[in-house]
Amino acid sequence: MDSSFIMEEAPGTEPERQLAFIHAMREIVRVRCDELGRPLTCRIHTFGCQMNARDSEKLLGILEQMGYQPTEDDDADFVLYNTCTVRDNANQKVYGHLGSVKSRKRKHPDMIVALCGCMMQEPEVVERIRKSYSFVDIVFGTHNIYRLAELLYRRMTGSEQMVIDIWDKARDIVEELPVERKYAFKSGVNIMFGCDNFCSYCIVPYVRGRECSRRPEDILSEIRRLAADGVIEVMLLGQNVNSYGKNLDISIDFATLLREVDQIEGIRRIRFMTSHPKDLSDDLIRAMQDCAKVCRHLHLPLQSGSSQVLKRMNRRYTKEQYLDLVEKLRRELPGISLTTDIIVGFPGETEEDFQETLDVVRKVRYDSAFTFIYSKRTGTPAAAMEDQVPDDVIQDRFNRLLDEIRQISAEVCGRDEGTVQEVLVENVNDHQEGYLTGRLSNNLLVHFPGDSSLVGNIVSVSLTKSMGFYYMGELAGAPIAP
Ligand code: 5AD
Ligand code: SF4
Repeated sequence: MDSSFIMEEAPGTEPERQLAFIHAMREIVRVRCDELGRPLTCRIHTFGCQMNARDSEKLLGILEQMGYQPTEDDDADFVLYNTCTVRDNANQKVYGHLGSVKSRKRKHPDMIVALCGCMMQEPEVVERIRKSYSFVDIVFGTHNIYRLAELLYRRMTGSEQMVIDIWDKARDIVEELPVERKYAFKSGVNIMFGCDNFCSYCIVPYVRGRECSRRPEDILSEIRRLAADGVIEVMLLGQNVNSYGKNLDISIDFATLLREVDQIEGIRRIRFMTSHPKDLSDDLIRAMQDCAKVCRHLHLPLQSGSSQVLKRMNRRYTKEQYLDLVEKLRRELPGISLTTDIIVGFPGETEEDFQETLDVVRKVRYDSAFTFIYSKRTGTPAAAMEDQVPDDVIQDRFNRLLDEIRQISAEVCGRDEGTVQEVLVENVNDHQEGYLTGRLSNNLLVHFPGDSSLVGNIVSVSLTKSMGFYYMGELAGAPIAP
């Protein structure tokens, strides 16, 4: 099929346009497979957060529809890097990979190399790729991942050496394209895209764009479809799920959405991420009390325990407000597991500020915490702040914080030892033969002897021994019926 033909003939509306390109690509892939006498393979490397993981499932869905077979081999015919730019080390990893892709592509000249995701929303990055990585075939961003088939078609049938398609903001939310889930029984579900919070250290609002909620009917029908396809656990995804619905023309908030998801037959567990402490409403706490399927776990990023640092971070809560919120959560949702994100070494952070962070960690007693060394992101307000903290001071604080967190979480995580809990069996344990790995409602893992036929079921497990960050257990009954 000739490129100008499809470009002109392709429908102007989505998803019809992409379905037409998927169809056209399927023919190209089929012919190529016949020539080679083998299937064409694809490999996606995903960096960063759950949003990127979900985007990769969508990208894989499109690739499979076009006829590509997924592989773990880096010598695939189509290699895609779905990038993250939240901290500089994620960027460096991508450049590292590109170095080795270059030599692989020399041996395998038909290989198509594509880059997408948050890093590509930064003009300096795209410029560097254009200049120094000319073997890259396709570059696209965060707002147009649904156009993969069209971009690949352009690269494979047109004359462009490198197809670059970056949008500075979202144009539309395209529903109903194929998705290939990593797990049969659980799935992420985007409820909103982007972020309007502009925390002063964070690049996400610049690369993911303005906050934009999906319509509730689209979210609910996606979850109903997932349930019909065997999914029993959903993770509702957004940078700031607590402000869900604010930009919609109807009146709906996150608590209401949660109640509606709770009604969907077949879904047995609901998780969500991420919650911004400033927007966590009493209505949401009530919804969590009322909805039995909502897991007893909240990821509540602290970032810093110092009210002064929080102010400069533009987090819009103080240490005291955060601690009050935690107290309320513990009172209203007994046994809830709390996890968090903390940044060490934000510009101007003093030892006293850092002590405030340690104080919050000791008071809240998180199940676990992700700790990050502050990374200067060009274009964010914090990058221009004076008093950047020296590296050795940051490293010392980071180590002290990690020690504190490890010690506390080992104590906290053992609190359910000796009880029987419901566990969703996620996979066969790779390290111990005859063992399965499952997840508790509070997100901790448990390993226990069992048969692979139980994967994807909810079972009762007796938590015989706490190992600090996970449990060892024994099956305590047959799979629990819905
Ligand atoms: N430096 C270090 N950590 C950061 N995060 C976001 N931006 C930065 C940065 N510039 C962390 C925050 C956020 C998590 C996803 O990444 O803790 O919650
Ligand atoms: Fe970044 Fe803050 Fe938005 Fe989270 S809430 S994505 S830390 S700007």
